Amino acid sequence: MNENHTITQHLTSWLLSEQISLRNMDYGGRSSDVQGELDSVEAELELVELQIADLLQKQTELTTRKNALLQELEEACDAAQPSSSSSSSSSKSSRADAVMSKQEMQRFDSTDFPWSKEVEQHLKDSFHLSKFRPLQLRAVNLTLSGKDLFLVMPTGRGKSLCYQLPAVCSKGFTLVVTPLVSLMEDQIMYLKSIDVSAVMLNASSSKEHAKTVMAGMTDPKSPFKLVYVTPEKIAKSKLLMSRLEKAYNANLLSHIAVDEVHCCSQWGHDFRPDYKLLGILKRQFPKVPLLGLTATATSSVLKDCEKILCVPQPITLTASFNRTNLYYEVRIKDSDIDASISDIASLIKNRYKDQSGIVYVFSQKDAESVSSELQKRDILAYPYHGNMDPNDKSRVHRKWTSNKIQVVVATVAFGMGIDKPDVRFVIHHTISKSIENYYQESGRAGRDDSPADCIVYFGFSDIFRISTMVVMENVGQQKLRQMVDYCQNVDRCRRSLMAVHFDEVWDDEGCNQMCDTCRHAKDFTSVDITQYGRQVVQIVELAASMEEKLTPLKLVEAWMGKGPAKRRKMIQTTTLPRLQAEAVIVRLLLQEYLREDFSFTPYTTYFYVKLGRKAPLLKSQTHTVSMKMRTTGSGSAVVSKGCSLSLQTVPLVFNHDIIVIEEGDFKTQAQLWPKLNQRLYRNISFFQISQTLLPSKLLWLYFPLCALVLKTASPRLPLGDMNENRRVPG
Ligand SMILES: Nc1ncnc2c1ncn2[C@@H]1O[C@H](COP(=O)(O)OP(=O)(O)OP(=O)(O)O)[C@@H](O)[C@H]1O
Ligand SMILES: [Mg+2]
Ligand SMILES: [Zn+2]
Repeated sequence: MNENHTITQHLTSWLLSEQISLRNMDYGGRSSDVQGELDSVEAELELVELQIADLLQKQTELTTRKNALLQELEEACDAAQPSSSSSSSSSKSSRADAVMSKQEMQRFDSTDFPWSKEVEQHLKDSFHLSKFRPLQLRAVNLTLSGKDLFLVMPTGRGKSLCYQLPAVCSKGFTLVVTPLVSLMEDQIMYLKSIDVSAVMLNASSSKEHAKTVMAGMTDPKSPFKLVYVTPEKIAKSKLLMSRLEKAYNANLLSHIAVDEVHCCSQWGHDFRPDYKLLGILKRQFPKVPLLGLTATATSSVLKDCEKILCVPQPITLTASFNRTNLYYEVRIKDSDIDASISDIASLIKNRYKDQSGIVYVFSQKDAESVSSELQKRDILAYPYHGNMDPNDKSRVHRKWTSNKIQVVVATVAFGMGIDKPDVRFVIHHTISKSIENYYQESGRAGRDDSPADCIVYFGFSDIFRISTMVVMENVGQQKLRQMVDYCQNVDRCRRSLMAVHFDEVWDDEGCNQMCDTCRHAKDFTSVDITQYGRQVVQIVELAASMEEKLTPLKLVEAWMGKGPAKRRKMIQTTTLPRLQAEAVIVRLLLQEYLREDFSFTPYTTYFYVKLGRKAPLLKSQTHTVSMKMRTTGSGSAVVSKGCSLSLQTVPLVFNHDIIVIEEGDFKTQAQLWPKLNQRLYRNISFFQISQTLLPSKLLWLYFPLCALVLKTASPRLPLGDMNENRRVPG
């Protein structure tokens, strides 16, 4: 019995322990189920949150667009009202309206002020101008009424007149603060030529000269109407400040003009530390009206300038930035340096034969190399950059101004104060670092109001060159991103993309087909790139899992199947031509499916690609990404319609243009020939079928194709290309 009892006891405890372990097992299995479900719910939740964020962003974009369109509509209605004044039609002085009503503002367009006769007389007799340009009269009247004013007007529109004219119509002198000595010299030379007395003070002024100027400031009989100074002088010269104070007390300091006023703000693109100290002027001389002038300030920059200069609530006049005579175009830059230069050279020799222009480059080294390459191609091109001897710089400037050389190949050092009216083209060999910079630089074209072209070459690797350069700047990446978007976005008019940076709306009508996207709107089609997105993201994921850093270049190459064989097996490679593969990657970066990651060494900064915020969205089967691409015509990358970015395409790389002919559809593409012909006529420099991209079974097409294209084009080849047209630089 005892034994039995013991056995039973053992049995019971065994059963119990089994039960417990069974129960544990059960519990453990359930817990892993729960954990699994939790993970998947969390992942799904994360995806939903991303989708919400994406939709919210879309909502914001659409609301902004809606508001812009509403504003446009309102303005169109306003313009249709018979009572509105025509001379102010280009004004969009929204902030001024807050201080002054529209009617009050329009009063300043009239010519019945006590000074109006004198103003009119000086305009004609001293400045030899027949009439005012939009907003000039209003600015002059406001200044002469003693108002503080910020004048935002596109480069070359005539801001200087808005302080020079009030200066000659007032007692005493106007103090003009200018950032560059060369700007001052230009102005003084011009004023001298029209017999307006002006002097300048800067670091290189002789003691004797400074003494004369200072004495003149407090002499009621002095002829000086304008005194130009650098901001450094104001900041550092106590003598100058004490003289200004004396002049102020004697009512001889009539106006203060701060040229290139955006230099005050770190948010502007040309910040100068000494400008930050100019607030002293308004604090010491509160009764003197201040006029700030700029061609590039956004409203936030202006707000900043207002604080720095201590001008409470100035009136802001903003002229429209739309330069209707400029044609904006983006060209895809060939990664082959020689091909890209040849393309530029061919434009200059054909489209711009004997016309004056500027080629902007990224660095001093590029200025030297690009100009020498252009010279090799018989173009009178000379470099200009900050590291050159000042005498050489002014020699190049002078020769170009007098049309002795055709092209200046310059860094942004060739900037402020360039006032050549007949510049017919501004070509950017490399994209600018922001749209504001691009607008300003390209705006040196067509100051005479005749048509001129602004062409930017958009190169994949350039994006990252600039990106690593601006990595330290506060909003550098954001601004660069906008510039890249300007280049890649063929969804909208180039002008409208620019306009938002100036708080303006330019509609497609305002463009009047003066940009490549408006002109070729029919050639662009939306292409679904979701699948490509997934492939690229997979490569980036794989690299991350192997702790490998991917540069953009490596990413493109890996995707195109050029990486190590082992990796090729693990990823889906693409047959897209290189330019399109690059375009897709840029799109993914812009849309935040990918993001940049910087790495610093003591000598250089590297740019790597990582997964972006929106990468997980691509896991959802319903999520789609698309981009517009050119599907017909000539120009930038052209792909065949209906997203035939596939194995069956035979890309014809023609210059940097790609025309895709689908397999089996060869005959029906006959309509392409006139376009090819046209392209060839314009640009014979380079013709090649990309053999790497040509499937071997279609190789039979290669030679007949070449022959056909050359045959159709030959009767129309420009003679200039055949002739030896060598010009000796000098
Ligand atoms: N009312 C006018 N009619 C004709 N030409 C004018 C008029 N006003 C100014 N100009 C000319 O326009 C050119 C550019 O003027 P200005 O140098 O003042 O431009 P800006 O607006 O200061 O440009 P930037 O931003 O480059 O300094 C000058 O050659 C000037 O003589
Ligand atoms: Mg100016
Ligand atoms: Zn347009």
